[in-house]
Amino acid sequence: MEQYVIKGGNALVGEVEIGGAKNAALGILAGAILTDDTVVIENVPDVRDTNVMIQAMESIGVIVQHVDKHTLKINAGNIHSQIVDGDYIKRIRASYYLIGSLLGKFNKAEVTLPGGCNIGTRPIDQHLKGFKALGARDAGVVGGRIEAHADKLQGAHIYLDMVTVGATINLMLAAVRAEGRTIIENAAKEPHVVDVANFLNCMGANIKGAGTDVIRIKGVSELHGTEYTIIPDQIEAGTFMFAAAVTKGDITVKNVIPKHLESISAKLQEIGCEIEESDDAVRVVASRRLEHTHVKTLPYPGFPTDMQPQITVALGLAEGTSIVTESIFENRFKYVDELMRMGANIKVESSTAIIEGVNRYTGASITAPDLRAGAALVLAALAADGFTTIDDIRYIERGYEEFDVKLRSLGAMMEKVEDDSAIQKFKLKVG
Ligand code: UD1
Repeated sequence: MEQYVIKGGNALVGEVEIGGAKNAALGILAGAILTDDTVVIENVPDVRDTNVMIQAMESIGVIVQHVDKHTLKINAGNIHSQIVDGDYIKRIRASYYLIGSLLGKFNKAEVTLPGGCNIGTRPIDQHLKGFKALGARDAGVVGGRIEAHADKLQGAHIYLDMVTVGATINLMLAAVRAEGRTIIENAAKEPHVVDVANFLNCMGANIKGAGTDVIRIKGVSELHGTEYTIIPDQIEAGTFMFAAAVTKGDITVKNVIPKHLESISAKLQEIGCEIEESDDAVRVVASRRLEHTHVKTLPYPGFPTDMQPQITVALGLAEGTSIVTESIFENRFKYVDELMRMGANIKVESSTAIIEGVNRYTGASITAPDLRAGAALVLAALAADGFTTIDDIRYIERGYEEFDVKLRSLGAMMEKVEDDSAIQKFKLKVG
């Protein structure tokens, strides 16, 4: 099984190009099947989650051509089934977007229940409530599948009980071709919700208000082909920004939208980093010991839950006591046990982590419990004294393209290895 072996201690310095937003790409890929015309999508990240999504689309007859590594040409004119089955689909969360788009196009969809990271119970009741309101009266879970069927889809007024990115995107996908008007209240405002809406509008949809908490959709009977470029990944960028913070480095993340990174930049400043913004880049310089702070994860524009493990790793090295409160997912501190093996001093009480900063982490043998926590543990290893091996890096590869390659280009001493002899070789090489 592949692992990372890392020798910590180097300050990471340099520039890194950020790829397309994974979570936007997943919604956009699903949205591309709403038309029979060809759609060209640029800046698709080449990560495991998008590749599973493509595999699922191909399994029902969608033709996906790679124009280059990050550009796809998609034609969904010959879909032969509205049933997406198979164990592989459980590996991703966003497979449920195929329910929204298949229902939106064919009034019928059956998709194996999604998996994704184990960070809480992750119910789908809001998706189902919305599909029912749009006319899929039977929408529900049957034999391990989400099923939804409708005679026709009719616009509806949907109030989401909590802010959910997944349900907001899924209901937009289902509603764009429904008859009449749909209003989604208490909608998520994340940049990738806006990106999916912009993409659908480029295909001829009529969606207004994406990025606010009320989204208004006027149904159209047909969508058409388009060319679209996905926004940069806010979380990949944020992860590299925190890599600068924990290694006392100096990293410029390029090809980003600084506005999307505001809550991350603000926290980095608060803990003692210098931030320089330009049109499409953000530079993070960390020249002294980090300072403690309090942070609570919140829906956008709040501090993202997908950055919670990374900030916890940084605060674990900060002076004084910090408090991190997770308000989105109830089971998102599992990685703390691994971090404690590296010398962190953290106490978790339900959704709050109380962190007493230590001077340094020490290398250990640890396991990535999920995607973002896995990436955060890599940051801890890069800051640590000595060698760390990280198992289960397949989780990290779900959402970070060439993570090790990009980190090495900034001066990280790390390698992806397959067995113990490769670990020994690396240790001999770097001394
Ligand atoms: C998406 C992202 C994930 C990110 C999260 C929050 C994808 C593939 N994943 O996950 O990386 O961490 O947004 O930014 O885009 N909820 C319900 N019922 C529902 C739906 C959600 O109770 O029907 C709850 C969830 O349990 C959670 C909260 O709402 O507590 C937010 O979930 P949501 O925003 O939907 O997260 P995901 O779309 O699963």
